[in-house]
Amino acid sequence: MNNQHPIGLFDSGVGGTSIWHEVHRLLPHENTVYFADSHNAPYGDKSQDEIIALSKQKVEFLLEKNAKVIVVACNTATTNAMKVLRHDYAVPFVGLEPAIKPAAALTKTGHIGVLATKRTIISEQYQHAAVSYDNVVVHSQIGYDLVSLIEAGNINTPEMDALLRQYLNPMLAQNIDQLVLGCTHYPYLKANLQRLLPESITIIDSGVAVARQTKHILEAHGLLNDTGKLGQNEFYTNGDLAVLQSFVPDQTHVYHQDV
Ligand code: SIN
Repeated sequence: MNNQHPIGLFDSGVGGTSIWHEVHRLLPHENTVYFADSHNAPYGDKSQDEIIALSKQKVEFLLEKNAKVIVVACNTATTNAMKVLRHDYAVPFVGLEPAIKPAAALTKTGHIGVLATKRTIISEQYQHAAVSYDNVVVHSQIGYDLVSLIEAGNINTPEMDALLRQYLNPMLAQNIDQLVLGCTHYPYLKANLQRLLPESITIIDSGVAVARQTKHILEAHGLLNDTGKLGQNEFYTNGDLAVLQSFVPDQTHVYHQDV
């Protein structure tokens, strides 16, 4: 492994690019390879065995690209497959956790809302995190169909806002003052959420924390890229090239790859 090898990232689709943007902001000299498994999105409705099998395929693709660390830029894959990935592969992994801890530290009403996929919410890891804070009640809401709409590029639409209203209203009735985005697709809904939520509610996602953790892991393994040159970034998808292209910086190379 050498420090010029890329950081590998994968997600069930385009959502993990929200994590890529934070990693790239913090570590602009790193080379990166991103895989969007849009053909198989959403992962959130699949069985744990399916999520593990799909995650392993993506890890193997990224290892062929010489990834020196792999960011599992998907909450559903982290909560359902991370244990197996860490057991089966020697490469260091960074995973996603819904940001319940910072929300629990910030809440004044003692009620926080979490929007995530079904598979994330029913996972053992999530269930443990959701009851770990004294005097804080976590209200979990499954975001049915949100990932599919984002994958189709239908973000600023009446259909999306209607679904969000349906999911937010029960949490608002519980007096939440923090809303945790427990899926890496959901940061792309921030403008909708800001429009639909009272200003008093803080929206929290995990992007910056994941970028910091990636840097920490690279430092700990002596793998930070110290060439001083801006990194090269490659994006692959087994879905629609134009959709992925719309989530990454202009002029970025986006390739089709069946994995
Ligand atoms: C999904 O594919 O269902 C969502 C991915 C995530 O949980 O981040």
